[in-house]
Amino acid sequence: MRVLLTGGAGFIGGHIAEALARRGHEVVVFDALLESAHGRGARAGREGLVVADVRDRGAVADALRGVDAVCHQAAMVGLGKDFADAPEYVGCNDLGTAVLLAEMAGAGVGGLVLAGSMVVYGEGRYDCPRHGQVRPGPRAVADLAAGRFEPRCPDCGAELTPGLVAESAPTDPRNVYAATKLAQEHLAASWARATGGRAVALRYHNVYGPGMPRDTPYAGVASFFRSSLARDEAPQVFEDGGQRRDFVHVRDVAAANAVALEAVLERAAGSFAAYNTGSGDPHTIGEMAAALAAAHGGPAPEITGGYRLGDVRHVTADSRRLREELGWRPEVGFAEGMKEFAGAAALRAVPAGG
Ligand SMILES: NC(=O)c1ccc[n+]([C@@H]2O[C@H](COP(=O)([O-])OP(=O)(O)OC[C@H]3O[C@@H](n4cnc5c(N)ncnc54)[C@H](O)[C@@H]3O)[C@@H](O)[C@H]2O)c1
Ligand SMILES: [Zn+2]
Repeated sequence: MRVLLTGGAGFIGGHIAEALARRGHEVVVFDALLESAHGRGARAGREGLVVADVRDRGAVADALRGVDAVCHQAAMVGLGKDFADAPEYVGCNDLGTAVLLAEMAGAGVGGLVLAGSMVVYGEGRYDCPRHGQVRPGPRAVADLAAGRFEPRCPDCGAELTPGLVAESAPTDPRNVYAATKLAQEHLAASWARATGGRAVALRYHNVYGPGMPRDTPYAGVASFFRSSLARDEAPQVFEDGGQRRDFVHVRDVAAANAVALEAVLERAAGSFAAYNTGSGDPHTIGEMAAALAAAHGGPAPEITGGYRLGDVRHVTADSRRLREELGWRPEVGFAEGMKEFAGAAALRAVPAGG
């Protein structure tokens, strides 16, 4: 099939382009080469790439010609520098998605696979020994500052046990980026209903692997640690390192996109479905830092006790649905993947200014 791949010059998009080409699909790579992701002057030397913004209606309409389905990865990612970034996040992620969907409706392109995120869940799933499943609110600054990182039961204050989040869990975005990722899903569902299209959102957990951008305010935690190690500095681990996450390898995420695209046009008209996309093998941030440091040959991580307000304590996915319904199987294990990632040339340089 012919696929329009937005954000195709990015970390995950690059791996999707490769996976699709390997499976015999034709790929139109579309990317604005945002400065926040690629640094300044990234235009040079990129062939076979449509350099344009998804908010540009004309460019999107041109790129959609002859396309069977769209794989929409373009977005501003990460927590950003501060709240002043909000208009740019909303512009790229939500206005961009709305323009793309409007042009798809015009061109009669009826299949969409969207890069979703586990950030839509906010604080993950917890069980209280007395109250069963509960939803703790945002953590109080006073608790964080005092090193009380574990969320408590909102009813009785008891310690909670974190569990796996299923797609049916209520959404609860806790920062601007998360709000824009959830809005993308709502837009996709509205588009499907209004046009009889078919949309699938893959809610990625923490994606890591070769080609991950270096530490910018927009990057993920694995790349911060990897960058520190490359400078021979200890990875700085926030809180007490006990935050649980699901680290999923970028090649597995690319494969999930490929299987979702290949099946999307067979789905029910007007449908939208979200799938957690995780390895199914949760680890703590501290374990991840330690695995990277060991594979790199030190220095050992430092637990700083610091915190970021937008961060959640634990969130780990139940990705059974993606395995069962789409036949996807993650193939890269934690130890193997971290070892590869710790090796040289794992990170994409983002030149100064980015
Ligand atoms: N990396 C993760 O752990 C992770 C987790 C959950 C979800 N996601 C989602 O996966 C997708 C890809 O993320 P990534 O980690 O590869 O980030 P990335 O920054 O490497 O790639 C995103 C790409 O999109 C492009 N882009 C951004 N806004 C654009 C616009 N308005 N028009 C055209 N191109 C634009 C950027 O130039 C960049 O090349 C995003 O939608 C992100 O929200 C990533
Ligand atoms: Zn309780």
